[in-house]
Amino acid sequence: MAAFPQLVFSGVQPTGNFHLGNYLGALVKFVEMQASYDCIYCVVDLHAITVPQDPAELTKHTREVTAAFLASGIDARKNIVFNQSQVSGHAELAWVFNCVSRLGWLNRMTQFKEKAGKDRENASVGLYAYPNLMAADILVYRATHVPVGEDQKQHLELTRDIAQKFNVDFAESIASHGHGEAFFPLPEPIIQGPATRVMSLRDGSKKMSKSDPSDYSRINLSDDADQIAQKFRKAKTDPDALPSETAGLAGRPEADNLVGIFAALRGSTKDAVLKDFGGQNFSGFKAALVELAVEKLGPVGAEMKRLQADHAYIDGVLRDGAARAREIASKNMTSVKDILGFVR
Ligand code: TYM
Repeated sequence: MAAFPQLVFSGVQPTGNFHLGNYLGALVKFVEMQASYDCIYCVVDLHAITVPQDPAELTKHTREVTAAFLASGIDARKNIVFNQSQVSGHAELAWVFNCVSRLGWLNRMTQFKEKAGKDRENASVGLYAYPNLMAADILVYRATHVPVGEDQKQHLELTRDIAQKFNVDFAESIASHGHGEAFFPLPEPIIQGPATRVMSLRDGSKKMSKSDPSDYSRINLSDDADQIAQKFRKAKTDPDALPSETAGLAGRPEADNLVGIFAALRGSTKDAVLKDFGGQNFSGFKAALVELAVEKLGPVGAEMKRLQADHAYIDGVLRDGAARAREIASKNMTSVKDILGFVR
């Protein structure tokens, strides 16, 4: 396959309760990747409306996620930060992909099955076609690297399948329009580190999620020091002391989760954490975890609140990012239209 210029794309839904899983699984990587790549980070409001949203809340949450990006250290001048609905190329390419992607592929998507639940007949068509829009988000920029949490792995595999099928189905036209043997790269998921799947603090078998009815299941980025302390203190554990090596975490999902969170917050590994805490009981470990979490998350939460209140500033960042994103996306959409044979 031809070499594509390296470009990072990722997205976060503005659906409220931005939590520690989003932060450690995605945002920390977004920030790290800026050192070596050009990056495009998107607040995916078109994805959010696949389930019902209160319009006023959607606006608030869009600004909240944007503020989280900036407060964590994403540089919106060097890179691009914007909300999806301001760049029409996402929806346009998603339609093209609705015609490339196969029903059989979408039927395998576990996230749709989870989100639609038992009342599948009543789920929106958008929720079903959601992964095609996600493929469009990435490929409208011809992005090559996508930092995400573990839960998005299947969607990234589908993105690669769609890119591949488009490249094969239209190979002749792609070549005749001067794009060589492939128009889309096969984007690589970047799923790394000790916190690719942060679990609920109440139940180590469930993912930490925005929609869990119990606020004690997650640490929100907007939580203050007292809330962080209370939630970790109440977090479910088991009666044994911590093991000295990671192998000892097998079959102990709650312990594994807290050690993973500690390692990710400290920027180290589970092994290194267990070297320090192996043999200790949970009360001492939790106290150290609270201290570390407050130290790392406190300043981000405070800056996020400050930025979030400045609507003019946040909206300006999104508008500016959207203008730059639109330039790249529309150039690629023009090529896609030529490849498909659309008259323009
Ligand atoms: P979303 O909004 O649910 O989550 C945003 C990011 O946070 C990660 N994440 C987690 N990581 C570790 N542990 C957890 N408990 C946890 N919960 C969430 C997610 O993996 C994600 O990286 N479909 C995507 C948004 C999206 C997207 C894209 C991502 C739309 N288009 C294009 C990448 C590229 C989603 O719903 O993420």
